[in-house]
Amino acid sequence: MERYVIKGGKALKGVVPIYGAKNAALALIAAAILTEEPVIINNLPDVSDINVLLEAISQIGAGVERLSRHQVRIVGATVNSHQVNYDYISKIRASYYLLGALLGRFHEAEVAMPGGCVIGARPIDQHIKGFEALGAKVSLTNGQIKAKAEKLRGNHIYFDVVTVGATINIMLAAAMAEGNTVIENPAKEPHVVDLANMLNSMGANIRGAGTDVIRIKGVPRLHKTEYTVIPDQIEAGTFMFAAAVTGGEITVANVIPKHLESITSKLVEIGCDVIEYDEAVTVRALGTLKATQVKTLPYPGFPTDMQPQITTALALAKGSSTVTESIFENRFKYVAELARMGAKIKVEGNTAIISGVKTLTGARVSAPDLRAGAALVLAGMRAEGTTIIDDIKYIQRGYEAFDEKLRGLGADIVKEDYDEEMRTEKIG
Ligand code: EPZ
Repeated sequence: MERYVIKGGKALKGVVPIYGAKNAALALIAAAILTEEPVIINNLPDVSDINVLLEAISQIGAGVERLSRHQVRIVGATVNSHQVNYDYISKIRASYYLLGALLGRFHEAEVAMPGGCVIGARPIDQHIKGFEALGAKVSLTNGQIKAKAEKLRGNHIYFDVVTVGATINIMLAAAMAEGNTVIENPAKEPHVVDLANMLNSMGANIRGAGTDVIRIKGVPRLHKTEYTVIPDQIEAGTFMFAAAVTGGEITVANVIPKHLESITSKLVEIGCDVIEYDEAVTVRALGTLKATQVKTLPYPGFPTDMQPQITTALALAKGSSTVTESIFENRFKYVAELARMGAKIKVEGNTAIISGVKTLTGARVSAPDLRAGAALVLAGMRAEGTTIIDDIKYIQRGYEAFDEKLRGLGADIVKEDYDEEMRTEKIG
């Protein structure tokens, strides 16, 4: 097992390049098997969620060749199974994108039902409703979801909740359905637009991604492409908040500043100076942070994936703040860990009520999930003394070379191996 050991108290300064968006890349990998022809994806982040999905498609027969650390060539011609085994879905929920992709290409798919996870129950009723609207019969037996259709026919689909996953899954399934599909109330996240762009580069006809209505005209087949993943909005946002939390000055490079607007405006509100360039953003902390109110919302609102990071910043702001989580019901687990570092936060329902403190102190904490783990790293950077963060495998699911990049900004952070048994003994 690996953990981070951080000696806090350094203001982080410098330029950090941002890699491709994990959540976009997951959808693009699934899209790549919609065609028999080769697809090259550039700017692919080298993180464990991506590597697991690549393993999953290779296990059903796709050719997967890593051309370099951030470039992969996928050949869907050799896919010979419609069944994705439980191991993959238990490791990453996004393997349910293979349901949409296999259904779209072969009219048949079988994927294990994803369970709830640490941040919430995460039902998939909207995915199923969408597949059924396209003419698939969907059944759930022995924990497996089976979707099968004689023919997929375009239809009008209205989502009851704004969902990234179902929007992506239906786009994958409908790209080659007969006739027109209209998705109303879709997610508008940049990665939904990225998927539409890649599918269009493969010959699909998808309009309106990023707006309130997505219109898909089914095409008979898709063809090869070479496509570059958009920059990771959440990785960028995490480093932008690292500047705020540590009182430093960080430039995130290779980003699309438009995708970062909700993050930028909160940073300005809490007292940071933010300068936008064409493909970079600089965040400079201007002293003690100011309190504010935040509510997570679907894009273009403030992202739930940035909620732990802003809560950490507000834990150090002057005065009282609130952070309301409106997407997932259980995304405040890390608050107990922040409390061990001296934060004063009370959670009532889906709102965290934060009384800012002047400083945090190092402690041994554990990353409960990906973004919360990253937020604890930020807290450790600011804390007096040493912070040890266990369970960094969660962080490694979505942040490539996190410790290396932080060291590049002047942080004192090392990754080291530790013995799980020793830890259990110590914790008792
Ligand atoms: C995606 O999850 C992201 N994952 C999450 O990133 C992100 O937090 C989330 O979108 C919200 O932005 C990937 O892209 C792989 P949803 P997803 O469907 O698609 C409810 C990270 O840290 N819902 O938009 O699973 C659901 O319970 C992660 O990188 C239904 O009720 O999220 C939630 O309350 C974690 N029925 C809300 O909608 C459904 O059928 C939004 O979920 C589907 C969803």
